[in-house]
Amino acid sequence: MLSQYLYISTAPSLTRDDVAAILDSSARNNPARGITGLLLYNGRNFLQLLEGEGAELDALMKRIGQDRRHTGVSLLNKTAVSERACPQWAMKRVIIADSVSDRRKQLDADLPNDLEPTVRQMVLNFAVLN
Ligand SMILES: Cc1cc2nc3c(=O)[nH]c(=O)nc-3n(C[C@H](O)[C@H](O)[C@H](O)COP(=O)(O)O)c2cc1C
Repeated sequence: MLSQYLYISTAPSLTRDDVAAILDSSARNNPARGITGLLLYNGRNFLQLLEGEGAELDALMKRIGQDRRHTGVSLLNKTAVSERACPQWAMKRVIIADSVSDRRKQLDADLPNDLEPTVRQMVLNFAVLN
């Protein structure tokens, strides 16, 4: 069954290169596993939306949970979906604007239209945290 998992985690001091390496892994591995999604990093926390078949998502969550670059992986939402919100992204890096007032506008432009409203709201709530 096609599912979406949304989780947050903590990583207080990663560099741009660290985040780029995570995106490289995603680009390398996710297509063959039918996994798509998006990733936000605010300098302290990650929020990641993963979508794909449940067994693939569970296997990836297990690896991600053991990854020492972050801690406190905490699943916020797990839901069955009929369509992917991010079909064209092995892993989309969603940038959080520096200026708080620009964030909502930029996210509205960047987030996929097909994101389920409650998931979209959780992503927006995360992104306005400082
Ligand atoms: C926040 C975060 C998100 C990650 N997302 C993915 C992902 O979507 N796909 C993936 O294969 N690895 C992801 N990883 C990396 C995995 O934990 C693991 O390091 C990687 O899959 C190992 O594969 P590699 O040897 O090809 O890099 C993520 C790691 C972190 C910290």
